[in-house]
Amino acid sequence: MKSELIQISDELFLKLGRMITEKYGIKMSAEKKIMFQARLQRRLRELDIKSFDEYARRLFTTEHDSVEISILADYISTNKTDFFREKEHFQFITDHVLPEIFCEKQTNSFFQLKLWSAGCSSGQEAYSMAITLEEFMQSRNFRFDYSIVATDISGRMLKTARQAVYPMSQVEEIPLEIKKRYFLKSKSLIDKKVRIVKNLRDRVKPAYLNLMDNVYVLDTQFDLIFLRNTLIYFEHQIQQQVLTKILDKLKIGGYLFIGHSESLINMNLPIRSIAPSVYVKINT
Ligand SMILES: C[S@@+](CC[C@H](N)C(=O)[O-])C[C@H]1O[C@@H](n2cnc3c(N)ncnc32)[C@H](O)[C@@H]1O
Repeated sequence: MKSELIQISDELFLKLGRMITEKYGIKMSAEKKIMFQARLQRRLRELDIKSFDEYARRLFTTEHDSVEISILADYISTNKTDFFREKEHFQFITDHVLPEIFCEKQTNSFFQLKLWSAGCSSGQEAYSMAITLEEFMQSRNFRFDYSIVATDISGRMLKTARQAVYPMSQVEEIPLEIKKRYFLKSKSLIDKKVRIVKNLRDRVKPAYLNLMDNVYVLDTQFDLIFLRNTLIYFEHQIQQQVLTKILDKLKIGGYLFIGHSESLINMNLPIRSIAPSVYVKINT
């Protein structure tokens, strides 16, 4: 039997939407009401709550509210991602970024490259970065050290990023040679899964970081930052603030990658465009 859809009033949607934008930057325009209502049905049932008013009381009045607000953000955020999504970026790293970095540096295993996947979702972006670096080292027959920080607000997505276990269907497009080198196959023939090999899992550090935080508590400056398909969900003014903080964490001469459908037009930022949706930080 189909259970009845619990409805949210325009007024309450506006109030909750404002809270979400304030805390996570995600814009909650009126068109999102249906999506919001639909996605929260399961959460209300889990809590045995019969109306959005009751849910709001819980959100705003109990000592659990901050936990519940983060669960709410998890339900309404879009986590779509893929291995080698927007693959031109990974090709650009292989063809331009790494050759440029390593023609200037004395290459040895002590040199460390630092990367950040901001808004990493379930980790496929960070592992695609790791595979790109490993393949470059293999093709050039030398090694350098690297680490990748992968951050998000979604506890569910970060858990998957840590486990690094994915449905086999997600790696169908990846060439067989790459799959053999970097993915382990599950034994089950019914529930076919793959897991990233341990030496790559050790390189990627998933962690909670809200891009709305005033300061990003990361004790390092990065060579490469991916901030892709995340800004698009934020208000324009918030995008500019987030980018300013992101760029504070990028070395001068470091590379910033944004999503192909995102734009930095009319933003006053210390960057120079070098390829579609790829920027270098400049000294101002
Ligand atoms: C569509 S996914 C993009 C994943 C990946 N970067 C890609 O391009 O495939 C957007 C991610 O941004 C995260 N996100 C949304 N608001 C955020 C915030 N305020 N701070 C950090 N991450 C956030 C979401 O949880 C989601 O996992």
